[in-house]
Amino acid sequence: MCGIFAYLNYLTPKSRQEVLDLLVTGLKRLEYRGYDSTGVAIDSLDNKDIIMVKRTGKVKVLEDAIQEHFSGDDYSEPVLNHVGIAHTRWATHGVPCERNSHPQRSDDGNSFVVVHNGIITNYNDVKTFLAKKGYEFESDTDTEVFAKLVHHLWKKHPNYSFRELVEQAIQQVEGAFAIAVKSKHFPGECVASRRSSPLLVAIKTRTRLAGDHIPILYGKDADSVLPRSDSTAEFMPLEEKEVEYFFASDASAVIEHTNRVIYLEDDDVAAVRDGTLSIHRLKKSLDDPHAREITTLKMEIQQIMKGNYDYFMQKEIFEQPESVVNTMRGRVRFDGTTIVLGGIKDYIPEIKRCRRLMLIGCGTSYHSAVATRQLLEELTELPVMVELASDFLDRNTPIFRDDVCFFISQSGETADTLMALRYCKQRGALIVGITNTVGSSICRESHCGVHINAGPEIGVASTKAYTSQFISLVMFALVMSEDRLSLQQRRLEILQALSKLADQIREVLKLDSKVQELAKDLYQHKSLLIMGRGYNFATCLEGALKVKELTYMHSEGIMAGELKHGPLALVDDSMPVLMIVLRDPVYVKCMNALQQVTSRKGCPVIICEEGDEETKAFSSRHLEIPRTVDCLQGILTVIPMQLLSYHIAVLRGCDVDCPRNLAKSVTVE
Ligand code: AGP
Repeated sequence: MCGIFAYLNYLTPKSRQEVLDLLVTGLKRLEYRGYDSTGVAIDSLDNKDIIMVKRTGKVKVLEDAIQEHFSGDDYSEPVLNHVGIAHTRWATHGVPCERNSHPQRSDDGNSFVVVHNGIITNYNDVKTFLAKKGYEFESDTDTEVFAKLVHHLWKKHPNYSFRELVEQAIQQVEGAFAIAVKSKHFPGECVASRRSSPLLVAIKTRTRLAGDHIPILYGKDADSVLPRSDSTAEFMPLEEKEVEYFFASDASAVIEHTNRVIYLEDDDVAAVRDGTLSIHRLKKSLDDPHAREITTLKMEIQQIMKGNYDYFMQKEIFEQPESVVNTMRGRVRFDGTTIVLGGIKDYIPEIKRCRRLMLIGCGTSYHSAVATRQLLEELTELPVMVELASDFLDRNTPIFRDDVCFFISQSGETADTLMALRYCKQRGALIVGITNTVGSSICRESHCGVHINAGPEIGVASTKAYTSQFISLVMFALVMSEDRLSLQQRRLEILQALSKLADQIREVLKLDSKVQELAKDLYQHKSLLIMGRGYNFATCLEGALKVKELTYMHSEGIMAGELKHGPLALVDDSMPVLMIVLRDPVYVKCMNALQQVTSRKGCPVIICEEGDEETKAFSSRHLEIPRTVDCLQGILTVIPMQLLSYHIAVLRGCDVDCPRNLAKSVTVE
């Protein structure tokens, strides 16, 4: 989804050229979120105007355009205070083109320029209002409406501060958004705000900040229409005045500059003026904290670099032996049978008393719920419902106070999942977040949760987050069954299997070149059917999703038990089929399905256990994986699927890390 990156330097000399480099690098770090066009805005050399460069396509195209546009010594002249804003756009209102790219401007004179993520749902009403005031619109975007609204307010209230103007404007708009605004009338200042779309402020100073938080300041007239906010509070002083600020959609864009960040909350207005950051809110509610904490990021720059790999996705697939260990680190004691999930430990008694568990997510995160449902039912002995967040909301699903609802999300920002969370929270359910992104909305809005600790996942296609979500849910099931005598043997078996998992994943990754050969057989086909059942049905769904999103080929995950009820009609000697047949309780049924396929002249690729000659005899093409306990097989079987989709995508010339039309973090419903 769209990405915001803004940079402000104060008493820290930076040339415009350096600022542009910083902006472009920031955008490159956000590329993985998915986008179709880009843009930047900086001050003109005489500081009287704002110059924008926008391009359709990749950041590289913008970078080349910037080089062409800003040449000459003047751009290397250092300036003490400057604001640059930049954006990657994922089209929602209006096709991807330069006219619709951000920054969007308020008028011909570029008085106010805005970068925006999300959707302003009442933009048509505001547009009509502004059109009556004489504003003419040059783009199809909802963002332009916001820029012009700020301009209108500025004309109406010439004495308002920049921050007050933006504060008034955000009160008039509805929807989900994150914005950063720059103005030629307020040089060196930047104002940013968010509602249901992530935004953080990162701070870089040479010396320590005066504190580890920024106090929140409140306006008095929050509820009236277009009021003047009347906060008399002072800006927080910093010990040292030389400072740089970064506004970004996520931490990966700032980590190379600083690890000190503040995650903004909905309706926070963050403003920097004279190098000082203040955070304002118009309304005060009872549970509001007095300050926003400055968080120290634990992420390392190397974690967001590709290293020796060609693509982030490839790197992330190969990181899984380490990422699964990181998920278990400090939680699973392999020398005993104890598992401690610090983030939910205090809630376990309440969870044990619940009526049912609900696991809610989208896409891959949903599949991790499908993958672990059976084990959760077995070890918790509770009813477990697995829900797609979007469908869950469409149905107005009944939720009760004694429900425990798990929200699974790599990004922690997926709009459908977040909406479903709020829906369940309002109805009194206990909310448990399973996320990979510290400080994300789902993290912050959950009562308790588990960080999956998979490390930053940059490729749009989720890989290591899936296996870590899977393990987090398995660990939860183990915690829930700790005091059940009858389940101890089963728990032990799973714990032993968990201890071998990293090495077994390494073994599976050795299949890479074999999978690449298979990809050569398959990449020119139109479709791929992936069949399995029981613990491996989730791998079929997840494998098919990976193939679809990365290769643009049709693919379907088919529950093998459903074959005779329709899908068997698709099978003939030309239809590519992949079947997962492992030695688990549903082996005989899977063999049955395999026979049904081969007797229709199907020639499936089989994923089977190492040395399983009987199963291998059914096809010349097979991938053998090490034996593990039934409920963890899905972690080993999904890896060949991740590799296969990756190799097919490369062979088809697809953009592996940023598949068309998709975004890493889907912050709109
Ligand atoms: C996975 O490969 C997809 N890109 C997608 O299905 C993703 O899992 C889904 O959008 C949910 O994202 P989340 O985990 O960040 O909530």
